[in-house]
Amino acid sequence: MRVLKEELQKRFKLGRPIRCRSGWLWHLKNKPNRIIKVTQDDSDAKLGDKFDKLLGYLVEINSSSVVKVYEFGSIKIENEAPYYYHVMERLFPIPKNKDEIWIQDILFEYYYHRKSIPVFCTKNIQEFLIKIKQLKFKYNDLHSRNIMLDRCGKMKLIDLESFLK
Ligand SMILES: Nc1ncnc2c1ncn2[C@@H]1O[C@H](COP(=O)(O)OP(=O)(O)OP(=O)(O)O)[C@@H](O)[C@H]1O
Ligand SMILES: [Mg+2]
Repeated sequence: MRVLKEELQKRFKLGRPIRCRSGWLWHLKNKPNRIIKVTQDDSDAKLGDKFDKLLGYLVEINSSSVVKVYEFGSIKIENEAPYYYHVMERLFPIPKNKDEIWIQDILFEYYYHRKSIPVFCTKNIQEFLIKIKQLKFKYNDLHSRNIMLDRCGKMKLIDLESFLK
């Protein structure tokens, strides 16, 4: 962890850390609207290629329903599995009293079981669901904590590793 941080600090000005179970996230001191996420996985030798393809695709299509990615790459530390990082736009949590409670079931049903989108869904949710269905990669961990809002209130997927699970 110490060596990883040192390596990252050669390239980025790491700010406040954010709690995360499957990797490490930090704010960036000089870029308050950006977040960096780093993950490590040695279970799949081709993961680096898959990451490159996925992130390259996401940068290219710049979907309004996925967090915007600015840059990505890998870090190799001797005797350790490779680390993958991406710098993305900073998003905001969905307010608890908003759509969050029921959103999960609807998202799940529609995305994984091809049910129709209920008419009472807001435009924001409808557009989000249609857009994420159109992506070339399937998202495998769809739940409300993996969705955040941009400054205009638009729903966007985070946790991009979930496209590769
Ligand atoms: N682009 C972002 N902007 C702001 N906060 C973010 C962003 N991406 C992730 N986060 C914060 O980091 C947390 C963990 O992110 P993420 O879902 O990518 O990791 P995770 O491995 O699923 O961790 P966890 O299981 O703890 O949610 C999110 O719940 C959110 O609070
Ligand atoms: Mg998550």
